[in-house]
Amino acid sequence: MSPAHGPDEVSSGPRGPQLPQFPWDSLATCKATAAAHPDGIVDLSVGTPVDPVPENLQQALRSVSEVPGYPATHGTPALREAAAESLRRRYGIDGIEHDAVLPTVGSKELVAWLPTLAGVRPGDVVAIPDLAYPTYEVGAKIAGAEVVRLGPGERPPEGTALLWLNSPSNPTGRVLDAGELSAQVRAAQEMGAVVASDECYLALGWDTDPVSVLHPSVGASRRNLLAVHSLSKSSNLAGYRAGFVTGDPDLVARLLELRKHAGMIVPRPVQEAITEALSDDEHVAVQRERYAQRRATLRPALEAAGFGIEHSQAGLYLWASRGEDAWQTVEWLAQRGILAAPGTFYGPGGDRHVRIALTATDERIAAAAKRL
Ligand SMILES: Cc1ncc(COP(=O)(O)O)c(C=O)c1O
Repeated sequence: MSPAHGPDEVSSGPRGPQLPQFPWDSLATCKATAAAHPDGIVDLSVGTPVDPVPENLQQALRSVSEVPGYPATHGTPALREAAAESLRRRYGIDGIEHDAVLPTVGSKELVAWLPTLAGVRPGDVVAIPDLAYPTYEVGAKIAGAEVVRLGPGERPPEGTALLWLNSPSNPTGRVLDAGELSAQVRAAQEMGAVVASDECYLALGWDTDPVSVLHPSVGASRRNLLAVHSLSKSSNLAGYRAGFVTGDPDLVARLLELRKHAGMIVPRPVQEAITEALSDDEHVAVQRERYAQRRATLRPALEAAGFGIEHSQAGLYLWASRGEDAWQTVEWLAQRGILAAPGTFYGPGGDRHVRIALTATDERIAAAAKRL
C-alpha cells in the first residue's frame, strides 16, 4: 500500500471546510456562575422548547410505529397536502402544489446543506443577514462559498448565488414587511440567485403580523424561491426533528432527487406527527399564548432593570442591551442566575446586545423577573 502523503508532508489536520467554533462552548464559565444561584439557573440562552409535545402529535407518532418499510423521502401525500393546506389557512398562501412540499429532518439540516444541494460552488457568494442564525454561515462554508453579511435594507451584491432571508429574525425578532421582502427577492432573482426564506418563527408575531415570502402581498415570482418551515417552535417538535421546504416546484424537485440519493429522509412516525401538527391549529394557539405570557412577564422586568429592547416584534427572543459590551451583560445576568446568549454569537454587529429566549417554564420566567 502506498502512503497518501510523501514522507516530508505533514498533515494539516482534517480536510474540508474550516468551521467556526461551536459558540455555546464559550458560555461554560457563565453557565457555572448562573448555576451557583441558590434558587437555581434560569437558562434563557437557547431556544429549545420546554412544554410537552401535544398529546395528539404523540398519538400520531405512535400510530404508525409498527410500519417496517422505508419511508418516502417526499413524505406521504397526506403530509404534503396538510402542509399546503396549513400555509393557506394560517398564512394566506395560495397555489402551493402539493408535490412542491418536501419534508426535512428539522430545518437546521436543510439550512446547512441547501447551498451544496442548490449548486452553490466554491467562490460563489452566499448573502446572509448581518445578525443571523449561525448555520447560514456554516452551510455556506460547507459549500466552500464566501459569506457576505447584509445590514438592514442592504441588497445582495452582484454574484450572489444564494440569499438567506429570516423574518421574524433570530436573534433580533425584527420583521420584514411585504415591501422589504419583495425588494430583496427581486434584487436576488434579477441576478439569478436562489432566495431561501427561513420562516420558522412566522406563527409567533406579537407587535406585528409577519408575512411569508410566498404571500401574495409580496408579489414575488416563485422561480428560485423557497420558504423553509420548522415545527420545532410552533408545535414543540424540536425533539422529533420536523420541518419542510416549499416554493419553486423545479427547485424542490431537484432537492428531492438529491435527498433521495443521499438518504435524507424523515422517519415515517415523524411524518405522521408532522401531518397531524399541520392539520390542527388549536395546539399552535395554546403554545403561542404561553410564549405571549412569558414575554409579557420578562420584557417589562428587563426594561425596569435598565435594559433597552430593540426589534423583538415577533419570534422567541428579546434582543436586549444595557449599552455595554455583550459579554459584560452576560456576566451581569449570570450573577443573578440567568443565562443569556451574547449577541456576538450571531455576528460581529451583536457586540452590545444579548439574546434572551422566552423558552423556559412559567415558573423559571417568573423567577428571572423577580431576580431582575
Ligand atoms: C432561524 C432558525 N432557523 C432554523 C432553526 C433550526 O430549527 P430546527 O432544526 O429545529 O427546525 C432555528 C433554530 O433555532 C432557527 O432559529
